[in-house]
Amino acid sequence: MTNYEFSNSVPKKVNDAIGEVFKAASDPEVISFAGGLPAPELFPVQEIKQATSDVFDQYGKEVLQYSGAIGYKGLREQIVDIMAERKVETNIDNIAITTGSQQSIDLTARMLINPNDVIFVEDPTYLSAIDVFKSYGAKIIGIPMDDDGIRIDVLREKMEKYPNGKMIYTIPNFQNPTGRTLSLERRKELVSLANEFGTHILEDDPYGAIRFSGEFLPSLKSFDTEERVIYLSSFSKILAPGLRMGWLVADSKFMDKFLLMKQSADLHTDNLTQYIISQFMKNNDIKQHIKLISEAYKNRADLMIKQIDKKFPEGVKHSNPEGGMFIWVELPGNIDSDELFKICIKNNVAFVSGSAFYPNKVTKGTFRMNFSNMSDEQIILGIDRMAKAIKEMM
Ligand SMILES: Cc1ncc(COP(=O)(O)O)c(C=O)c1O
Repeated sequence: MTNYEFSNSVPKKVNDAIGEVFKAASDPEVISFAGGLPAPELFPVQEIKQATSDVFDQYGKEVLQYSGAIGYKGLREQIVDIMAERKVETNIDNIAITTGSQQSIDLTARMLINPNDVIFVEDPTYLSAIDVFKSYGAKIIGIPMDDDGIRIDVLREKMEKYPNGKMIYTIPNFQNPTGRTLSLERRKELVSLANEFGTHILEDDPYGAIRFSGEFLPSLKSFDTEERVIYLSSFSKILAPGLRMGWLVADSKFMDKFLLMKQSADLHTDNLTQYIISQFMKNNDIKQHIKLISEAYKNRADLMIKQIDKKFPEGVKHSNPEGGMFIWVELPGNIDSDELFKICIKNNVAFVSGSAFYPNKVTKGTFRMNFSNMSDEQIILGIDRMAKAIKEMM
């Protein structure tokens, strides 16, 4: 048998939390609050089918050809308008289309991180971003959060300790995994801290459009006067994740290099799908579609929170998301949520243990619950099953 000599980018230990999540979600018996999956019944299947047919009628030969790394101009023009609604003024030359925002995270990390470079992240944070940063050899410094997002006071302390820190990675809206949102004041403070220390900010915003309560908050990019913020978003949560379509907004100095990296990764993002999404947005009002999703998710989030408050033991804490897909739960005592997961999965209910989301030291008794992907009946039954397992463990 061959003994592969893997590079340092390949994880030494296999910790396939995502694989576990999808495995759990694919068993029809299991009520899964685990994945970050949108509600499939809200996918606009007929409209996407129609857009596909329109694209083939109008641009058949063009869409089947190779094209430029930056992406389809028509789609980038539409994204300029989406960004304007998010209070970011930009133009088509500063927008690149990527294969989901996951690719933007990967390529940006590849561009900015040398082995042992320090990067600052929310603690806990998106697990696939942790995997990417680790694969480039980053030293990841987790910054604790409270209900208003990342703690700026602690971030400042750590930045003073590591003044050459390369990047702050943040998910300001309805964060994965906590569902928390960075307050307006902290957004401004974060950007001015980055200016003070000469650090980049990677603003990852796949969920911001799915706001179902509270006030709209401008992105960090809108406060960026020194071109430090690299902004990412995606059609995964507002349309469909299987399309694998995201975008990156950055200044031209970054963009020139980014396109070289993009080219070496996959030449360009799937041309056909770019045209389909563009056509979908010509045929339909995507804002209306997002409104529909947001309303459905609000009902599910409200129901999940009501059931948690009613059924989980006293002393349990949870976030109160104003959008997105996740609720973060903290149990009292010293419960090991990895063990809880094992019991729950035997009882056909799944979540993601908090341990997956902490880059360094795990806080026990924490876990992420997804509310977008299950029906009301499944939410009620699933919380009952979890409550029983938690009581058993306590
Ligand atoms: C915070 C965050 N960033 C990026 C992604 C990747 O999204 P995409 O499907 O656009 O690659 C996800 C997916 O769940 C996410 O939660």
